[in-house]
Amino acid sequence: MLRPSHPDRNLALEMVRVTEAAAVAAARWTGRGDKNAADGAAVDAMRFVLGGVTMDGVVIIGEGEKDEAPMLYNGERIGNGELPQMDIAVDPVDGTSLTASGRNGALSVIALAEKGSMFNPGPCFYMNKIAVGPRGRGVIDITASASDNIKALASKLKKSVQDVSIVVLDRPRHHALVAEIRELGARVLSISDGDVAGAIATSWPNSGVDLLMGIGGTPEGVITAAALKGLGGEIQGRLHATSPESQAQAEALGYDFSRVLHTNDLVASDDCFFAATAITDGDVLRGVRFHDFGATTQSLVVRSRSGTVRTIETFHRHDKLQEFTNAI
Ligand code: FBP
Repeated sequence: MLRPSHPDRNLALEMVRVTEAAAVAAARWTGRGDKNAADGAAVDAMRFVLGGVTMDGVVIIGEGEKDEAPMLYNGERIGNGELPQMDIAVDPVDGTSLTASGRNGALSVIALAEKGSMFNPGPCFYMNKIAVGPRGRGVIDITASASDNIKALASKLKKSVQDVSIVVLDRPRHHALVAEIRELGARVLSISDGDVAGAIATSWPNSGVDLLMGIGGTPEGVITAAALKGLGGEIQGRLHATSPESQAQAEALGYDFSRVLHTNDLVASDDCFFAATAITDGDVLRGVRFHDFGATTQSLVVRSRSGTVRTIETFHRHDKLQEFTNAI
């Protein structure tokens, strides 16, 4: 008789300690007007906790190149060198300005996937994206117009176009997109930053978000793909250049700006892990709260192979937080 095998290791459950530490560190800077300090504190905390994880990881998406980022730089080896071998994408603070100004929607996030399975954005900073939740999977097409996508999604969700809500980053480059959505009669939910949180919201029941559209960071697109693989949603992207020179440079390195990057092109492995902890409040998670005893965090923990999605609320004791802060 075949015995059921024991559940194997869920690295996302270890990664949530990493994002919790980063979120608490960044939250000390919430509303204090210093986005670099918030980011720096999150990077230090993330690096410190990651260092103790049993794995042989390489940072594919980090804080930039080694000479400009002392920690979590692209190519940095993480962990104690033992198996498994993993690609790592980090964004210690997605929404540095949101954190600095005390606005909603900032997250600390990390994604892990089997070695060699993560898309490396290289110098391609921006990507045009469309992301949708599980119920809308299979109908989006980044090569079609915004109107066609919204109509197709409305029909799949069995609701009127007027009831479709789309998260769009508030940027001048999106004026035409916003005008098209409004002309159609659908709703724009404008965010000033943080499109990872916007994309996750498409896959969260009752978040009120149906779709994410527009140009945002490519690293954030890869991290979103890891999250949506577990949450059951879908992302499509196309690299976007801000100048012909930057496009030519990236093309010389082999990047193709006409190629549609599907969820599986951004993260090929079906065994990937995602963890996020809210720094400030969001549609899905509540931000860090400081209390007399310490701090409370809320996190999302997602594993793609099993499709397990956990929300975790954690109480961090003040004296332990202090010990931790002294250690980094
Ligand atoms: P930071 O936290 O690094 O500032 O990134 C926030 C963010 O809004 C991302 O969520 C988004 O993908 C990207 O910036 C958009 O880039 P830009 O601000 O240059 O339009």
